[in-house]
Amino acid sequence: MSIEAPGSLELRLRRLGPGDEQACQTLEQLCRPHGWDLQQWNQELEDAQHCVLGIQRGPDLLAVASSWLILDELHIQLVLVHPVHRRTGLGRWLLTQLIQRGLARGASGATLEVAASNTAALALYGSLGFRTSGRRRGYYRDGQDALIQWCQLGPTS
Ligand SMILES: CC(C)(COP(=O)(O)OP(=O)(O)OC[C@H]1O[C@@H](n2cnc3c(N)ncnc32)[C@H](O)[C@@H]1OP(=O)(O)O)[C@@H](O)C(=O)NCCC(=O)NCCS
Repeated sequence: MSIEAPGSLELRLRRLGPGDEQACQTLEQLCRPHGWDLQQWNQELEDAQHCVLGIQRGPDLLAVASSWLILDELHIQLVLVHPVHRRTGLGRWLLTQLIQRGLARGASGATLEVAASNTAALALYGSLGFRTSGRRRGYYRDGQDALIQWCQLGPTS
């Protein structure tokens, strides 16, 4: 699938796989500390049970998101958008696509964990219907709490 962004090269959304680990890790290093190493990205991209979607413009990977279906629960693992391309709808596009694909495979709900201070991610998830359902105290390396979020999925999601 692709869309034409105003005044720019075409954006292309595609499922990522083996061979994309370097681009994913490079993007992640721009987005958050303590990300996955190349081997972890390799495993993520090789696992057919995981869905990793990316948005590219030409050869450049601008955003990536990944999920994993466990029974009827879609687990959103991460969503990363290049700092220069934030607030242009890429994060919402990727999550919406992950959810649509999860629904098509039988998901009835989606869940994720997010740092309590990550206001951008919380706003994005909230705009898609995610609500906080639990908290893991001191879950992250820096001592921050993780919020567990849940979104009920239905035919209109
Ligand atoms: C969180 C993140 C993925 C958001 O991606 P994005 O592409 O900028 O988000 P979108 O443009 O799709 O935003 C969709 C909506 O989310 C909300 N939102 C996103 N970023 C926001 C911010 N910084 N402040 C307030 N609201 C925000 C808004 O409601 C926005 O809609 P609007 O622009 O029409 O107001 C991005 O900031 C990011 O990569 N952060 C670093 C990595 C990270 O923390 N990922 C999450 C945990 S893995």
